[in-house]
Amino acid sequence: MKPVNVGLLGLGTVGGGTVNVLKRNAEEIARRAGRGIVITHAAARDISKARICDTTGITLTTDPREVVDNQDIDVVVELIGGDGLAKEMVVRAIENGKHVVTANKALIARHGNQIFAQAQKKGVMVAFEAAVAGGIPIIKAIREGLAANRIEWLAGIINGTGNFILTEMRDKGRDFADVLAEAQKLGYAEADPTYDVEGIDAAHKLTILAAIAFGIPLQFDKVYTEGITRITREDVAYAEQLGYRIKHLGVARRTAAGIELRVHPTLIPARRLIANVDGVMNSVLVKGDAVGPTLYYGAGAGAEPTASAVVADLVDVVRTLTSDPNNRVPHLAFQPDALHDIPILPMAQVETAYYLRLQAQDKPGVLADVTRILGDLDISIEAVIQKEPSEQDSSVAVIMLTRRVREEKMNQAIAHIEALAAISAPVMRMRMESLK
Ligand code: NDP
Ligand code: HSE
Repeated sequence: MKPVNVGLLGLGTVGGGTVNVLKRNAEEIARRAGRGIVITHAAARDISKARICDTTGITLTTDPREVVDNQDIDVVVELIGGDGLAKEMVVRAIENGKHVVTANKALIARHGNQIFAQAQKKGVMVAFEAAVAGGIPIIKAIREGLAANRIEWLAGIINGTGNFILTEMRDKGRDFADVLAEAQKLGYAEADPTYDVEGIDAAHKLTILAAIAFGIPLQFDKVYTEGITRITREDVAYAEQLGYRIKHLGVARRTAAGIELRVHPTLIPARRLIANVDGVMNSVLVKGDAVGPTLYYGAGAGAEPTASAVVADLVDVVRTLTSDPNNRVPHLAFQPDALHDIPILPMAQVETAYYLRLQAQDKPGVLADVTRILGDLDISIEAVIQKEPSEQDSSVAVIMLTRRVREEKMNQAIAHIEALAAISAPVMRMRMESLK
């Protein structure tokens, strides 16, 4: 049978990896898909640049429109990134009746509702496995493998760059900026790395995971997002002393009042498997009512791990080319007319346990004042440690773990604590999850 012609937009980290994997495994991939899959055209900004892949036999252009409008191309793979040109090209490809594969989580999280509706109308597929957790087939696992379940919650380390930074800081005492520069060099980081370290990239991915887990529309603007830039080496060490690891987690949880959608640094018991996921690896824990907890693990970024997901999507698209568009797996797991508009909970209503680090004057009565504030608000303390006075100003670090409490109460408590004359710096707060 005639091979399927693919047009590639972007020849960077993921685009280059995709060319390499498709070429190296061409024969096996054709045996799986039932047809050959060949990249015939590709677009990049600079077509004379040295690449990680061999582009022999691929017609190169600097104009992605030439690829998207080419009548011989069956599937467009968008690996440019962002939601400017990439969105224009994806919309145009769908309009031209082409199937689309993308690794672009920003595009799907922010414009997926519109893109999927357009694709539905045109009878084409938009596949996006590579958009979440790199090489881990988490979209397929939740959308298809767990289709029998009512998903109760999921929690994941879903940004490779952030996890790489936290691991290197903890294990080797390396500097934040230095590790970030290395992640950029290795091709893990986003074009704008603040997306990685401020949690925006993880929020994009969590938006997608929550939609396919709970059957709700994509709602990126409702995700509570906190990055990893405020975490100090001291916090990492204190957490370890208390038996916890700090991980940058995305959490989506169904509660009676609505859905929690949040990305923030989180203390997790060190004995949990997910607490031991290090470096660029990602992991997602999904709790279904029938299956119980399930855990998925693999490389979260990088050329070939991500290409693995892109090529798997290509195989999926090729296998379903001749199937009835109304009988394909729905883009967001649930039938488009069966999505529910369950409210997303404001952060003030979310309940978690807390890690608090206070910088207090080393004098009698301060700890009593702090515990009184917490007690008055019914916040129970689970553990307290007080460190040696610092040499500079004789203040001491006090670390407290609390039991579960609503965020709005903790906000009140922190405001009162920070108002005490003996508290010399803003309170560092991190949420804790037992992930039981
Ligand atoms: P890169 O920056 O490495 O590659 C982007 C590619 O797009 C480059 O080849 C670039 O051309 C091309 N490009 C940019 N602008 C234009 C333009 N105006 N016209 C034509 N080509 C253009 O990005 P990545 O490969 O890292 O990321 C691609 C996508 O994959 C993003 O959405 C990212 O979020 C996602 N992703 C990335 C992962 C990773 O590990 N890197 C993992 C999972 C998803 P040129 O090379 O000439 O500059
Ligand atoms: N910048 C992203 C990360 C790429 O580090 O996880 C994979 O989505």
